[in-house]
Amino acid sequence: MPELLPALANRRARRSFAPEPVPAELQEILWRAVSVAPSHGNSQATRLLVASSPDVRDQLIAALSDGNRGWASAAPLLVAIASNPAHDRTAANRDGSERELWAFHAGIATGNLLAQATELGLVAHPMAGFDEPSVREVFGAPEEVRVLAVVAIGFPGEVSQLPDDLQKRETADQQRLPLDHLVVRDEWRPENSESFRGYRDAQRAKQG
Ligand SMILES: Cc1cc2nc3c(=O)[nH]c(=O)nc-3n(C[C@H](O)[C@H](O)[C@H](O)COP(=O)(O)O)c2cc1C
Repeated sequence: MPELLPALANRRARRSFAPEPVPAELQEILWRAVSVAPSHGNSQATRLLVASSPDVRDQLIAALSDGNRGWASAAPLLVAIASNPAHDRTAANRDGSERELWAFHAGIATGNLLAQATELGLVAHPMAGFDEPSVREVFGAPEEVRVLAVVAIGFPGEVSQLPDDLQKRETADQQRLPLDHLVVRDEWRPENSESFRGYRDAQRAKQG
């Protein structure tokens, strides 16, 4: 059977970073990976807010949640993923209602970024733990721009540099729902309604 692409199979949201900067030519490959992401009507509303100067970097780190700031401030490259919903296309239903796609498009673009980073031997860890208005302010982005994630990027570092609790998470196996939960085959079944937390708790109870 064909194997998963290594860039997908090997990607993990790791938290230990080496201090080496990400060379400009690798950064450009990352931005190009985002650039080729598909979007409805080719709207391309996603934007990458890259903290290049030490001052902007410090301000972006200050906008992270306390829990993320501890480990993410060691990442040499921090990038916020943003979108302008007004520049994006919506999809129309038959009753005239509309589905917004800007977050979906930014998600596809971020998936490209994470896979490309993994392929280049980089760690790329997305975070939702940040203050959106603060990130907008750091980059002087207009009010209508939405910030969806901040991604910490760098070469993998020593796990032993992390605090004990994060070391455990860094080396833990990847936890995923079985494919029967993920895939709805013709008809929605009870397992398709089970949350990951519900599934995990039931498994733990079975194991005693
Ligand atoms: C949109 C998004 C937001 C996330 N936010 C955070 C975060 O704020 N802090 C954090 O440590 N990890 C964050 N993560 C990483 C997830 O915790 C991680 O992807 C998940 O536990 C699965 O682990 P894996 O990516 O190594 O398979 C986020 C992931 C995504 C996709």
